[in-house]
Amino acid sequence: MKITTIILAAGKGTRMRSELPKILHKIANRPLLQHVYDTAKQLENNAIKIVVGHGSELVTNTLKDLDADWVEQKQQLGTGHAVQQVSDQIADADTVLILYGDVPLLKLATAKLLINSVNEQSLALLTVNLADPSGYGRIVRNASGQVTKIVEEKDATDADKLINEINTGIMAVQGKQLKQWLSRLNNSNAQGEYYLTDVIEMAAADQINIVTSQPETEDEVLGVNNRIQLSHLERVYQQEQAYSLMEQGVTLNDPMRFDQRGTIESLGQDIEIDINVILEGKNSIGSNVKIGANTNIKNSIIGDNVEILANCIIEDAVIGQGSRIGPYARLRPGSVLANDVHIGNFVEIKKSSVAAGSKINHLSYIGDATVGGGVNIGAGTITCNYDGVNKFRTVIEDGAFIGSNSQLVAPVTIGKNATIGAGSTITKDSPENQLTLSRAKQISLASWQRPVKKET
Ligand code: UD1
Ligand code: CA
Repeated sequence: MKITTIILAAGKGTRMRSELPKILHKIANRPLLQHVYDTAKQLENNAIKIVVGHGSELVTNTLKDLDADWVEQKQQLGTGHAVQQVSDQIADADTVLILYGDVPLLKLATAKLLINSVNEQSLALLTVNLADPSGYGRIVRNASGQVTKIVEEKDATDADKLINEINTGIMAVQGKQLKQWLSRLNNSNAQGEYYLTDVIEMAAADQINIVTSQPETEDEVLGVNNRIQLSHLERVYQQEQAYSLMEQGVTLNDPMRFDQRGTIESLGQDIEIDINVILEGKNSIGSNVKIGANTNIKNSIIGDNVEILANCIIEDAVIGQGSRIGPYARLRPGSVLANDVHIGNFVEIKKSSVAAGSKINHLSYIGDATVGGGVNIGAGTITCNYDGVNKFRTVIEDGAFIGSNSQLVAPVTIGKNATIGAGSTITKDSPENQLTLSRAKQISLASWQRPVKKET
């Protein structure tokens, strides 16, 4: 079976009150339209067509990597008109699935259920019963319970308005039939629009069996029209991810205060995640890892038995097994830490490798450096890697000990097992096994007296 999925995404989204087209607003840092696409993409033998209108240039540029055909609907004359724009790209034998760019959380299983209900005698319609159906199209059934048509709210009689079963807009239809019905749509209705929903009445008249099904949860078919609904679906999505992680053996101290904006490429066991942790991009997390509160981790690889204390910001970093980070540490892109490394509070690392067992425990900046194993970098040490124009590397060899408050002016190499005296400004290579220091001599003046305030 060949599938054509049509995603309707031409609408403006006035109630978002935004310059950005609605479908580019994000859930978990991914545009709404991308969520719908990603679900559709999982269907086999599927050609995806996306109907765009408002802000189409921005939409197609932003999402240019999608493997889909973009179809322009220049004027938004209704959902039926939107699907008509794709008519000539639909083959008779296709099963056509209609999705909405602003309904981001539809499940793949639901889409499959619809597709599998379609044949020459049947079409599939996704409906849901709502306590408050106002605003939606109502599903009208005859005395024997068969669907006969959909009535839009604005065209509904008072009796129609009492119907709780509403049209989600999502349906699957055989291509040949859909094209025939589309060609017969008109806009003589309260809104002067070409309603896609009118195909249902035509189908019923053609003796086509209208198979309805309902999603597992209402959230699957909720659309985003304003930022309140956007925030609701963000929480729904985050909760799903949190529950899935817990099912895979992760402890979340509070699943309501956890956000994952991306994917986890590999996941160990017995991971503990405290509150307000954000995982972004692609991360891998080993076993027995603890992540403290208020920590952000982006595009990083975290080894087994790593402990990350509270309030750390970690991006494009690799953390070796048994390492301990934070609290309040920042690992910037290109930080590569081997096993059993300790990075303490108010330490920033950038584009640097740190070999096994090294410690940088307090108040340091280590940038563009190669740090060996078993190195101890004292509090307040800074690599001066930038002369205002170019960046230079600092090399600190195995076993070196850097005294507190030292500045290492790159390019510079600190030799193996060298010791740097506290408070030094090091501008030349420091030989291995020696003490190097640069420090003004300390003096004390016995005769010195504190100044006293002058009388005026
Ligand atoms: C539509 C349905 C209604 C259903 C509701 C579910 C019709 C006539 N009505 O109503 O039965 O209960 O969805 O939310 O289909 N769009 C275009 N081009 C257009 C018009 C719309 O691409 O010319 C897109 C919009 O961007 C949106 C979707 O189609 O993603 C639905 O459009 P919307 O205006 O929200 O339809 P409703 O009037 O809410
Ligand atoms: Ca709508």
